[in-house]
Amino acid sequence: MNIDEGLKLVELDDSGVNTAFRADVLAGLSQEPKAIPARWLYDDAGSQLFEDITQLPEYYPTRAETEILKGQGASFAEMIGEGRAVVEFGSGSSVKTPLLLAAIKPAAYVPLDISGDFLRAAAADLAQKFPGLPVHPVEADFMRRVELPEEIASLPKLGFFPGSTIGNMVARTAVDLLRNMRETLGVGAKLLIGMDLIKDEDVLVAAYDDAAGVTAEFNRNLLRRINRELGGDIPVEKLAHEARWNDQNARIEMHLVASEAIEFSVAGKTFSLDVGESIHTENSHKFNRRTSNMLLLAGGWDPTARWLDSEGRFSLLLAEARPNRSAP
Ligand code: AVI
Repeated sequence: MNIDEGLKLVELDDSGVNTAFRADVLAGLSQEPKAIPARWLYDDAGSQLFEDITQLPEYYPTRAETEILKGQGASFAEMIGEGRAVVEFGSGSSVKTPLLLAAIKPAAYVPLDISGDFLRAAAADLAQKFPGLPVHPVEADFMRRVELPEEIASLPKLGFFPGSTIGNMVARTAVDLLRNMRETLGVGAKLLIGMDLIKDEDVLVAAYDDAAGVTAEFNRNLLRRINRELGGDIPVEKLAHEARWNDQNARIEMHLVASEAIEFSVAGKTFSLDVGESIHTENSHKFNRRTSNMLLLAGGWDPTARWLDSEGRFSLLLAEARPNRSAP
């Protein structure tokens, strides 16, 4: 999966610096508490580290969601029906999509990604696995409303957004995205979306602070990226990875915590952290039945079905974009 910027859509200044990255980092380090948007975790090294995370024994979400997709094919076929155009938001190098496509016999597949490279790889892979299935890749930012290819205009649509990536957004952004998905897909469309579930704090913290230290590397890679791309001198070894459960907001937070007072510069500006002070780098919200339903409803989607893995760790929800009607 990839929520990084695509080559074509990146704005570079005269010295080759990604201006949006620099603006986000400088603004994030200037505010209290310090925070940098999680999308910047996914440079090439970060995307590879995330792929490694999905294989870790502690990181259950990928395995749990795959188990549902493998085991519930007949139920998906019944609830979703054949002949839909499947529109995948953020098509990664995932093994999940073929499982869905095999179960529901779609009429077309539309991978949608901001990165042309990921898109071409996903399209080629799927075209090979499903000869005869029309594949129409679209290079676009799925956080906005997207114009879908003319070829699928008359087909009923199914949006697919696995992985609980929706959980990486705060509620306001998640609702904006769901509303844009409704606009993109239209009334009558369905949406199959993964949402990770609230569970024992120890299990959640371990999933985001694994024994092998891969998630720590994933988090600290952001500092290396800042040093490399923005001319920074952040002392990476003095910032420790921490995964924190925030119960009030029902989310795991990733932080980089200073082990001693430090001062450093980025793009010519000086910043300091006190001992114990952190840079907040990611949120991963977790849900229960009611909060996931409420989020979908707020985004204009009526929940119609819900599947869990055998250990009840992860949920896949089906929702429908019903016509607007007056309500009491
Ligand atoms: C991409 N996303 C759904 C992952 C998650 O679980 O929130 C990102 C991640 N961050 C640390 N580990 C995995």
